[in-house]
Amino acid sequence: MKAGYETPEAWSSGPDRVYEALSTAVVAECSSDLRGRRVLDLGAGTGATSRALRAVGGRPVAVDASWEMLAHRRVDRPPAIVGDGCAVPLVDDAVGATVAAFVLSHVEDPEALLREVGRVTAPGGTVIVVSFAGTGTRSTVGTVVEELLRGRGWVSPAWFRHMKEELEPVVADPERLLTMASSSGLRTPVVTTHVVDTGIDDPDDLVDWRLGSPGVASFVAAMPARERRDLHREAVAALGPGRQPLVLDLRVLVSRAATARRSVSA
Ligand SMILES: C[S@@+](CC[C@H](N)C(=O)[O-])C[C@H]1O[C@@H](n2cnc3c(N)ncnc32)[C@H](O)[C@@H]1O
Repeated sequence: MKAGYETPEAWSSGPDRVYEALSTAVVAECSSDLRGRRVLDLGAGTGATSRALRAVGGRPVAVDASWEMLAHRRVDRPPAIVGDGCAVPLVDDAVGATVAAFVLSHVEDPEALLREVGRVTAPGGTVIVVSFAGTGTRSTVGTVVEELLRGRGWVSPAWFRHMKEELEPVVADPERLLTMASSSGLRTPVVTTHVVDTGIDDPDDLVDWRLGSPGVASFVAAMPARERRDLHREAVAALGPGRQPLVLDLRVLVSRAATARRSVSA
């Protein structure tokens, strides 16, 4: 299991809301390619992208490396399979489209994941891959929360630094993303940058987002409840009065699965 995703409650009480806003913005633009189709939600986490897919009439099936993330609020979720995005546990052409949101930066071999989504998506089906653009956030909440956590003994875990400093920049680079998509066999790849206003600006929500994020969530979850509450309060106070809209930059790859042996029907 991927380190850092053992705390679905923390994810669901903060980041989930942010990721749903991001997924909704991206999925809405491709809704006509997703409506009515069986859509693989790869790296589904606690279901933010699945909800966005259902909202446009897609029929998601979730795959994620973390059993804990998929098990969260199971009863309201689409069918799900625990599995690795670089060896997706589905047969060839199993789905009519794929959305892989915020998972490409988690794998050592992004090309392997792109090949897999091309394999399991029926020929001609839409493949959408979303990553952070790596241009930072305009919100100061991340810095505020990390400073407070460092004062309490938090050290950024090695796997998280590796992801942020080595894996994320590769998939945030539009040229490299295009090259990887083409050499993975995906057709007509196009990479665009989306600036998404999440609509989230309440200091409590912003702090929940950061406290539930990978890299810090496990540390925060291990704190006694009272210390957690104090930390939350201090972070909100440090942000100061007023609202700070959370606006994030995304890199979105839209392409099609290759080799038209038959047209999309899944
Ligand atoms: C940043 S979260 C995104 C979750 C979801 N797509 C969303 O937008 O809320 C990344 C997810 O990818 C999953 N993940 C990490 N490595 C993976 C892999 N190799 N294969 C499948 N899922 C993976 C994690 O367990 C986690 O749920």
